Amino acid sequence: MKGTTVEEKSLRSQEPFLSRVSEAWASSAVGIRSLLGDLWSIGTLGQGAAVNMTSNLPIVETTASPPTGTLNRSKPPRLVPASRFTFDELVAAYNQTRVDYIVPMPMNAARLREYVHDYDVDLDLSAVALEDDRILGLAMLGVRPGLTWVTRLGILPVKRRRGTGQLLTEHLIAESHRLNVPCITLDVIKGNTPAECLFHKLGFRNVHELMVVRRPPGFPPHNVGPYTFQMPGTQQALGFLRRRQDTPSWLTDTPSLRNANHTTALCVELKNGGQGWAVYQETTFQLRRLILHTETGDPHQVGLALLHALHTCHPTIDTIRENLPVDDPHWPAMQEMGYIESFRRTEMQLELV
Ligand SMILES: CC(C)(COP(=O)(O)OP(=O)(O)OC[C@H]1O[C@@H](n2cnc3c(N)ncnc32)[C@H](O)[C@@H]1OP(=O)(O)O)[C@@H](O)C(=O)NCCC(=O)NCCS
Repeated sequence: MKGTTVEEKSLRSQEPFLSRVSEAWASSAVGIRSLLGDLWSIGTLGQGAAVNMTSNLPIVETTASPPTGTLNRSKPPRLVPASRFTFDELVAAYNQTRVDYIVPMPMNAARLREYVHDYDVDLDLSAVALEDDRILGLAMLGVRPGLTWVTRLGILPVKRRRGTGQLLTEHLIAESHRLNVPCITLDVIKGNTPAECLFHKLGFRNVHELMVVRRPPGFPPHNVGPYTFQMPGTQQALGFLRRRQDTPSWLTDTPSLRNANHTTALCVELKNGGQGWAVYQETTFQLRRLILHTETGDPHQVGLALLHALHTCHPTIDTIRENLPVDDPHWPAMQEMGYIESFRRTEMQLELV
């Protein structure tokens, strides 16, 4: 895999797609304009911008000076349900809001559709902020029993610091209140100061520190002692998940794994009596959403056996595990098996009752 990473491949494969997206963006302007009769709420302002359709990505050009920090209240943005937009429109806007993001995470429409499905995003309760017929930003809300989740929040770089991010977040908090959930959660990349300040300002508090960790393809580095393993498949994977005792984040919670395709499992038994299981999603290029669990015995030894079996069976693909708690007892075994930390997130929560 040296020389061409999976990310580079996926970015390259999106180029023709992004070109199509810009065409969709152009043809959607009239549709978006027609939405303006259907407004939810009015907040603070914005200045003129134009969408340039000549390049692969729609580029926002300011027609006025960039904001100086002084609020201009002449033209409030309007919030429209995200469900009124196509996935192509939403993803084009989302990618624009993230062009300068701390960790690049471009999406395409297929991936956004999968994201909405896997993470129970409710597009009727999610919102797009409009100024005239132009999208300034968006924010989405995941909804599960007893909890909501703020995600995909982003404002176009030239439209920041005018209250739009706060307006969108307050809208999602209000929708969560209406749903009567006791708590709203989100996770933010450590060092994303604007987002951290916004969420703290609105009352969110830090609850967990989480890591995004990866392992490149390759056989496991060494033998780990005698063990036997089985690969019992999807039904058993879901049965295993009912026994988990960790405190998962939204991304790695059981409903996310249940919603995702290709979730499967393996389990190990060590000669010394240790037992455990791994549940993960197997895609063409990646093993994802890896959950390790020790039923009996030492988590370090059980973790080594699980990972040895996993990477012996899947030596040619990358592995990514998002939102691993920093104190996960299997992390030392994961490091021994070649996992490295990419970056950290902070999980935040806002109590609503
Ligand atoms: C985070 C983000 C959504 C904020 O949107 P925004 O419209 O610029 O924010 P607002 O103007 O509504 O600001 C509301 C509050 O957020 C905080 N804030 C926003 N930008 C800030 C900055 N650059 N530095 C420090 N605090 C900032 C402030 O507390 C601000 O309140 P104040 O104006 O009274 O000081 C925007 O910076 C963005 O899109 N960033 C890239 C994508 C991203 O990080 N998304 C969040 C992922 S979890």
